[in-house]
Amino acid sequence: MKRRDFMKFPAFGMTLALTGYSCAEELNEDVQETDIQWKGRTQIFNMHDFQAPPCLPLRVGYIGLGNRGYASLRRLAQMEGVEIRAIADCYEYPIRRAQEYLKELGLPPAAEYFASKETWKDLCARDDLDLIYVTTPPYCHAEMAVHAMLAGKHTAVEVPAAQTLADCLRLVDTSEKTRKHCLILENCIYDFFESMTIQMAQKGFFGEIIHGEGAYCHCGGTGNVARSKPMPPLSPEASPYYQHRLKLIKGNAYPTHGFGPVAKAMRILAGDRIDYLSSVETNDFVMGKTFGEMAEKTGDPYFRQFAGKTYGGGNSSIMRTVSGKTICLGYHTCVGRPYSRVHLLSGTDAFAQKYPVPQISIGNDKPVSDEKMKELEQEFTPELHRHIGELAREFGGHGGMDFIEDWRYVNCLQNGLAPDMDVYDSALWSSLTPLSYWSVTHRSNSIDVPDFTCGAWKTNAPVDLSLRNSGKNTGMRTVKKS
Ligand SMILES: NC(=O)c1ccc[n+]([C@@H]2O[C@H](COP(=O)([O-])OP(=O)(O)OC[C@H]3O[C@@H](n4cnc5c(N)ncnc54)[C@H](O)[C@@H]3O)[C@@H](O)[C@H]2O)c1
Repeated sequence: MKRRDFMKFPAFGMTLALTGYSCAEELNEDVQETDIQWKGRTQIFNMHDFQAPPCLPLRVGYIGLGNRGYASLRRLAQMEGVEIRAIADCYEYPIRRAQEYLKELGLPPAAEYFASKETWKDLCARDDLDLIYVTTPPYCHAEMAVHAMLAGKHTAVEVPAAQTLADCLRLVDTSEKTRKHCLILENCIYDFFESMTIQMAQKGFFGEIIHGEGAYCHCGGTGNVARSKPMPPLSPEASPYYQHRLKLIKGNAYPTHGFGPVAKAMRILAGDRIDYLSSVETNDFVMGKTFGEMAEKTGDPYFRQFAGKTYGGGNSSIMRTVSGKTICLGYHTCVGRPYSRVHLLSGTDAFAQKYPVPQISIGNDKPVSDEKMKELEQEFTPELHRHIGELAREFGGHGGMDFIEDWRYVNCLQNGLAPDMDVYDSALWSSLTPLSYWSVTHRSNSIDVPDFTCGAWKTNAPVDLSLRNSGKNTGMRTVKKS
């Protein structure tokens, strides 16, 4: 990017690069330049199904120990064959909290880096790490992931993995050049219903899935605005400032939770790919107004800094695949509505939808009975979930899916197996934000969706949630409860 996008928050004396672009020209430039690059690009090395040498023990570093980083560290610290060697944050409090937890488990302290916003680079430079978790706010992700891979480490990056198309391409380029994994931490793939439907799709239960829908919807409005205020002990760099919370941009600001599971079920990048996308968006009917009202009511400079700004609204994108299928993706967090990721798969033989209640129908418009649903669960729950599902529910983390995700990545890397999500997923799923942003600002004109695989999608294999090639060998340490 030629320019960076910085928003000033004088009330807190801080400057944050929150969104990928500061102006329409920058977005247009990114779209044009990336379009030329990916169309003329040849794959350097196919990272799909790449089996890196096994890492046992798996030596892990964390950058960002807020909500997600700390929760993940707690899970990984309890897995056998994992060593938490180093941790970085730009504040000391999250470091102390993490060290305290390691101590509780009777584990050695991790090397710590918190002197500045740049000290995470020292963590990357260590020669005793195999995997670096990037669990900082989204505007940091691409830079940190690229840096980690160039320093010779696999990286697991929270969602979204990048905010601009150029950065999506940079992730792909770096991963292929370094042969280091760049894994997006898209936990929703592993939620129980989603995983079951992915398994059903692999086994042909739906016939041909011709249409899918996903979304990220939950209550917004004033709640959303109020939640945006950092509460102690959160740092000013904490993620409540995310673009998707504040909806500072137009387009789908948080696409991966809704898109990832549908993409895996519909074999996107493993037999099919998205050809083009078109996106519409409502005006902002809530955010700007509510910030203004709250600023007036409370006199709080925190709210005043956001008042009078232009925000995005509810977003709906439609996509068509090269094999003639469609996907709808929604993003609706600016007004109050029940939580939903939709997760709808419509096939020639059967149909599934998760929200508001999980239902499946087979060849007609009636959901199957509860009894039949149980039978289907018996038949199609993936082996991965059979193996660690119960433990995952006990550990929790969005009902257990966070644990399954962490366990799966650890297990794959320990055994030298290819993880379920690769750098192409990371890039494509994250690219939906800038692509939808562009479409919205161009009267919903369609835009070509980059083929980050350079044609390898035609032969890349679909995700396999069985444990066919994997050891079930990642156990849990005896946990020393506090
Ligand atoms: N997969 C999910 O279900 C899910 C849920 C929530 C958030 N997320 C994603 O996870 C990421 C982290 O979210 P969170 O809720 O943990 O945020 P958070 O604000 O709680 O934590 C982020 C941490 O990063 C630290 N940080 C910021 N800049 C840094 C720098 N330069 N160097 C070192 N540390 C730095 C902050 O101090 C903070 O401790 C976000 O990208 C978000 O989109 C994913």
